[in-house]
Amino acid sequence: MTQTVIHSKGLRGTVSVPGDKSISHRALLFAALAEGDCEITGLSNAADPKSTMECLRAIGVDIVERDGSVTVRGKGLRGLSAPSSVLDAGNSGTTIRLLAGILSGQRFASEITGDASLRSRPMKRIIEPLSKMGANIRGTQTFHAPLTIQAVSKLRSISYEMPVASAQVKSAILLAGLYAEGKTIVVEKLPSRDHTERMLGLDVSNNSGERIVAVEGGMKIVPRAFVVPGDISAAAFFIAAGLLVPTTEVVIKNVGLNPTRTAVLDIFKQMGGKVEITNKRIVAGEPLGDVAVRSSDLHTGFELRGERVAALIDEIPILAVTAAFSKGVFAVREAKDLRAKESDRIKTIVTNLRAMELEVEEYEDGFAFVGRENLRGASVESYHDHRIAMAFAIAGLRATGETKIQNAECADISFPGFWDELKKL
Ligand code: S3P
Repeated sequence: MTQTVIHSKGLRGTVSVPGDKSISHRALLFAALAEGDCEITGLSNAADPKSTMECLRAIGVDIVERDGSVTVRGKGLRGLSAPSSVLDAGNSGTTIRLLAGILSGQRFASEITGDASLRSRPMKRIIEPLSKMGANIRGTQTFHAPLTIQAVSKLRSISYEMPVASAQVKSAILLAGLYAEGKTIVVEKLPSRDHTERMLGLDVSNNSGERIVAVEGGMKIVPRAFVVPGDISAAAFFIAAGLLVPTTEVVIKNVGLNPTRTAVLDIFKQMGGKVEITNKRIVAGEPLGDVAVRSSDLHTGFELRGERVAALIDEIPILAVTAAFSKGVFAVREAKDLRAKESDRIKTIVTNLRAMELEVEEYEDGFAFVGRENLRGASVESYHDHRIAMAFAIAGLRATGETKIQNAECADISFPGFWDELKKL
């Protein structure tokens, strides 16, 4: 499907975003391992969490979907059963990596794979630590999916220093740690999102700038209710739209404001964005609020590196688009992991911005450009990457003329209804 976005003279209204994708995956997975029924409200209805749901059903977990809530009949750590066919994680890195952590500790064998994009994403980052824990997990010769996992009776606990900032890798190790003898420890130099440790109530400490997360093998997961806040990474597209389009006022309701995810708001503010948080509250241990945005005169003049890139990893496409229409230099460096996302996001961002006639420098670990007030509407590719499709839809609101987004349906991976919400405004 091709979507056409035209230059907008003003947007007004209220937007709802789906439940947070990271929290939705985890609510489903942790509920499946709980010692009884868990109710989840606000679960994302996007394709990625659906992949997690279907994989869980395939290993014997009953999940009942009702209007507005989902009940997961938790099986406890040892109640899962062998799948009768290959598990399909679709496009979802979180599904394959977190589930691989759980499957690695099972007394049954399994195989898990995904679509062409997922099969090209690096899996060595989980195969290595999980193998150290005694898991019998293999990928292809180049360490890609499909992953085959053999039965084991128990895993070994490890202390693991994270070589890349990745919440998926951290979570895979911690989940495998539930099946290990003793205490499994993950040490992060660059912090990544903390939903796993928050939702499982794990011990977290800080030692000379390093974050240390520990999980006790055999820890029982007590059944509970999960409330999923709105996805700030989805909200970011509409926040950017609000800032970029003149004579605009937009409110995004019920946005999750977990401190490991809000760096994007700080950057928008640093760019001169008029962003205001109202109705701030805590629901089920996660902070949330409404985000009100008004058109702003934006400037950049900074570079994102290392720790800041890790904190903004899913927002780089929309930040790049926002910066492209702002005054000043904008650079993203030390961000090579962007090449290992749903698309090679360094290449796809650079190619699409160039198609809109911005001069962009590409580096192995990032890109740089000087923003301009106006870019030209163009035909751009989503590269089947949901965040690229949505970021360039927002670019189309501000660019001159018409912007066509090819293969735009991939927005459904994290944000079904994105195109309708955009039209509504
Ligand atoms: C996620 C972690 C991040 C992020 C992804 C979701 C998670 O990936 O890009 O969209 O839910 O743990 P990495 O762990 O690979 O950085």
